Amino acid sequence: MRHSRLPVAAPVEERPLDREGIDRAFIGRLVREFYRRVRRHDRLGPIFAREITGDWEPHLEKMTDFWCSVILKTRSYQGRPVPAHVKLEGVREGDFDIWLSIFSDTAHNLCDLDTASIFVERAERIAQSLKLAMFFRLPAAPGGPVPA
Ligand code: HEM
Repeated sequence: MRHSRLPVAAPVEERPLDREGIDRAFIGRLVREFYRRVRRHDRLGPIFAREITGDWEPHLEKMTDFWCSVILKTRSYQGRPVPAHVKLEGVREGDFDIWLSIFSDTAHNLCDLDTASIFVERAERIAQSLKLAMFFRLPAAPGGPVPA
């Protein structure tokens, strides 16, 4: 049987967001304002303070690269977010709701509604995959572990 006429389920490549004012300078401001809020949050502030003990500037630049890659498709971020989060101690699944709510407030304060919803939708998707990597465990088999 020939399959050559079957449609190919290729992933749809997202295009760079092309909007006036949404450039690296804007993303840098968004990132800085977001982490300013995160750092003074009662629950998230101490988590970040434990990990980033010195100069915050390299983290802020890295996060600007990250968001430029996500939104503008610049490929400026080449890191691996999953291992950076899996190794964190003391993070609960519900902390992601706090993170997302601060991110959403910041985006809505700094840009128009439609642009903010694009940033928030991408953040939600990435948060979902980070949560899966950090917290998902297969349920235990009924009757306990299978003997070797
Ligand atoms: C409760 C939620 C979160 C916490 C507590 C958290 C915490 C952190 C911390 C402490 C670091 C620095 C790690 C290091 O320098 O070694 C980090 C890095 C990072 N975070 Fe998060 N994060 C959260 C959610 C997110 C979400 C939702 C995103 C994306 C939408 C994200 C994207 C990143 C990226 C790209 C890095 C840089 C990883 C690397 O290349 O080193 N984080 N995060």
